[in-house]
Amino acid sequence: MTHSSVTPLDQDVKQAISSGDNDMTALTLNNASHPQTPEKKATNEKASKFWDKLAAKYAARPVDDPEAYEHTLARTKAHLKPSDHMLEIGCGTGTTSLILSDHVRHITAQDYSREMIDIAEKKREVDGTNNVTFAQSSVDDLPSFETYDVVFASSLLHLLPDLDDALVRIQQSVEPGGLFISKTVCLKNQSLLYDIMVPLMRLVGKAPYVNFITGDEIEEKIKQNGFEILEADDHNHKPACRFVVARRIA
Ligand SMILES: C[S@@+](CC[C@H](N)C(=O)[O-])C[C@H]1O[C@@H](n2cnc3c(N)ncnc32)[C@H](O)[C@@H]1O
Repeated sequence: MTHSSVTPLDQDVKQAISSGDNDMTALTLNNASHPQTPEKKATNEKASKFWDKLAAKYAARPVDDPEAYEHTLARTKAHLKPSDHMLEIGCGTGTTSLILSDHVRHITAQDYSREMIDIAEKKREVDGTNNVTFAQSSVDDLPSFETYDVVFASSLLHLLPDLDDALVRIQQSVEPGGLFISKTVCLKNQSLLYDIMVPLMRLVGKAPYVNFITGDEIEEKIKQNGFEILEADDHNHKPACRFVVARRIA
């Protein structure tokens, strides 16, 4: 990364945090379905550039912990039905959606990074998979009127500056009785190394906004948003990643 790109990226992260906080005071359950504000849209567009720059490397990088990844896939598949229409949010380069596509009717897979989606679409063409649709879209654009049998989020929730608002939107996107399946990196109370390194990396534009949260806090927030927990476990351990399968009850 060139030195000239460091300062704007750091500003992006700060904007992402402050706009999230400001919006939180104004948002309620009912108005979360409204389109995102122009300020939030601008923040998201800038934040997505971080992932645009990373996309090619991300696609080439081997899975961190293959055993844990396989376990997550197996536990996710155990909850899917061939009739399901699934939404993956923050799908990155689409690997997981393409793997899961055999187990559901259709997957709509979204990511706000244009580069990530372009790579995902190329992989889909090579695979010849015809029941996955990739689209560039932010979690903040989830419309409340479109619902899915399953919403899936892998390594995403800890990256959302406005997690509470996102969970309202996610709840509205799941059919009553449907599932929200997530796997979230939990950096809070893990290691002094993360506490020091992540803010430093953000400062030099090498890390995105990261919400330090524990697995128990993630579970609690999901429950507070109208879900019951069906299954929860730590699948990766360095750092801990909390896998949660939750059913919409409200
Ligand atoms: C750590 S990657 C995970 C990618 C993929 N889900 C996986 O497990 O490999 C996080 C992804 O979330 C996307 N992302 C982050 N914030 C987002 C948002 N608000 N809306 C949509 N995508 C987002 C990023 O562009 C990136 O591709």
